[in-house]
Amino acid sequence: MSFTDMGNGKRIAVLVSGGGTNLQALIDAQNAGKITNGRISAVISSKPGAFALSRAEKAGIPSFVIGRSEFLSQREYDAALCSLLRENGADLVVLAGFMVVLGPYFCGCFKDRIINVHPSLIPSFCGNGFYGLKVHEAVLERGAKVTGATVHFVNEITDGGAIILQKAVEVKANDTPESLQKRVMREAEWELLPRAVSLFCEDKLRIEGQKVNILL
Ligand code: GAR
Repeated sequence: MSFTDMGNGKRIAVLVSGGGTNLQALIDAQNAGKITNGRISAVISSKPGAFALSRAEKAGIPSFVIGRSEFLSQREYDAALCSLLRENGADLVVLAGFMVVLGPYFCGCFKDRIINVHPSLIPSFCGNGFYGLKVHEAVLERGAKVTGATVHFVNEITDGGAIILQKAVEVKANDTPESLQKRVMREAEWELLPRAVSLFCEDKLRIEGQKVNILL
């Protein structure tokens, strides 16, 4: 099935590297009719055995693997990813636990059309080196009482693009990085990401400098 056959609004490509619970949240939202004017057209994984690929297969979504180590330079990796996404006619690229750095070439290819979910309240606990469980470890080490999740546009600066949605989540005294990660996913990420994707597909997001205005 080619994406151009789908006729269901914007084409959403989801980039993953691991378990894919955020991908699952998008699939579930799509099945529940909560993604207005958009449909997941492709899943691309940076890792061959990622469980996210099984989720895509189960949902009947075409999937691909492009590993960073197959390419000598960042520019070549960006270009390969970019041409695959263009072939698939992607209108929106969603980074859902995608653990590979994307360079300026890629950001330029899909300027203002890349969305990322990050497991903290940006600008806290973000930037280079803050990803996955490491974020929650840092939150606990710092003794923060509140954390959360952020969905934002992606630009050349790691976690530096305009913020679309955020939600706070309580840190509990007996939390481990794993328990905190689960709560942040359940209470914030899985809710925010489908909502932000739907808003994008409905053309309700306007970037003005560092800010995103949401049209009601
Ligand atoms: C999620 O918590 C996501 O926010 C985080 O990785 C996890 C992926 O889980 N992303 C980052 O840290 C990016 N900076 P998933 O594969 O189950 O969706």
